[in-house]
Amino acid sequence: MYAIRIHQNGGPEVMAWEEIPGPVATPGTVIVRHTAIGINFSDINVRRGGFYKTIRGGLDVGFPLIPGNEAAGIVEEIGEGVTDFRVGDRVAYAGMHGQFFEDTGAYCELRAVPQDRLVAVPASVTDEQAAAILLKGSTASLIVNRLHKPAKGEVVLVHTAAAGVGSLLCQWASALGATVIGTVGSPAKEAIARDNGCAHVILYREADFVEAVNKIAPDGVTVVYDGVGKDTFERSLDVLSHFGKAINYGNASGPVAPVDIQRMALRSLSVARAGVTGHIPDAAALRAVAAELFELVAQGVLRPRVDKVYPLEQAASAHADVEAARYSGSLLLAP
Ligand SMILES: NC(=O)c1ccc[n+]([C@@H]2O[C@H](COP(=O)([O-])OP(=O)(O)OC[C@H]3O[C@@H](n4cnc5c(N)ncnc54)[C@H](OP(=O)(O)O)[C@@H]3O)[C@@H](O)[C@H]2O)c1
Repeated sequence: MYAIRIHQNGGPEVMAWEEIPGPVATPGTVIVRHTAIGINFSDINVRRGGFYKTIRGGLDVGFPLIPGNEAAGIVEEIGEGVTDFRVGDRVAYAGMHGQFFEDTGAYCELRAVPQDRLVAVPASVTDEQAAAILLKGSTASLIVNRLHKPAKGEVVLVHTAAAGVGSLLCQWASALGATVIGTVGSPAKEAIARDNGCAHVILYREADFVEAVNKIAPDGVTVVYDGVGKDTFERSLDVLSHFGKAINYGNASGPVAPVDIQRMALRSLSVARAGVTGHIPDAAALRAVAAELFELVAQGVLRPRVDKVYPLEQAASAHADVEAARYSGSLLLAP
């Protein structure tokens, strides 16, 4: 089969299109023929190296590696002892058993996946939608269901309101009745943010978002959802109301600097840092999260937007586009 592999950390150019032996269906695993592969920012981080190495003290991920954590496809073969799936089933997965940087391998045509990491994809959801939503939606699910679910009437701030996770957070929060203020990095993304349910959109690279939010919500917002990190997180504390929560889930611009907890005292603020792995640790949790996401897609509450599908061999172009924040919603690879 063909796969994208990297033999060292670096820029998009380290991604090579290579022919390698196909996977074998070992006991408990399912061979999935990928039809749609999700691109996630964590794929960029794995390719670059970077902060993943520091959080596990110089962890060596082992080269060559196939990037990618998320895909949808068709069951091609089942290993001994597989009871949950049959050949021909439509399935999807997001992550394996460890952290997202430890057991990657989705940028390829065929993958052996343990059956407990797979979910069945219902007829109401396309393969592209499944690959576009499972990982980003699981992150939104973690944030909404475990960290802060906005109530009707709350005013909330979502950074990158046209991005992958940010779009889903806007859609979900507005469906729950919150007034959503969204930030976007370019004028082209403003209409998408409004379509995602934002009542107010701030171009945070052109305007001071703290001033803009203070004008819209003088008493502050109850929560900030932030996947940008370095460029926005610290200043986001300044737009929170009393007892407000600042939830960071990503580092698109770089990691957040250490936060001085004394600053929280002025308005009894809370800070959380989300990590999706612990939200979907086993088959039961993963399938419950996926069932809710697929139901919300069927209801039209969550509307995963696939902005571009690249042939798998052009994964390097896709990564360059993600790093330039060129598109919105989800980007996919087609094997
Ligand atoms: N904690 C977890 O478990 C978890 C799970 C999923 C994702 N994440 C993280 O959450 C973040 C967002 O994920 P996503 O899927 O929403 O990503 P995405 O769709 O690629 O969006 C990232 C957005 O961040 C903004 N951005 C700001 N500075 C940037 C920079 N230097 N380079 C590129 N983009 C920049 C851009 O939006 P604008 O143009 O609007 O500025 C861009 O569209 C990523 O850091 C990702 O790794 C974490």
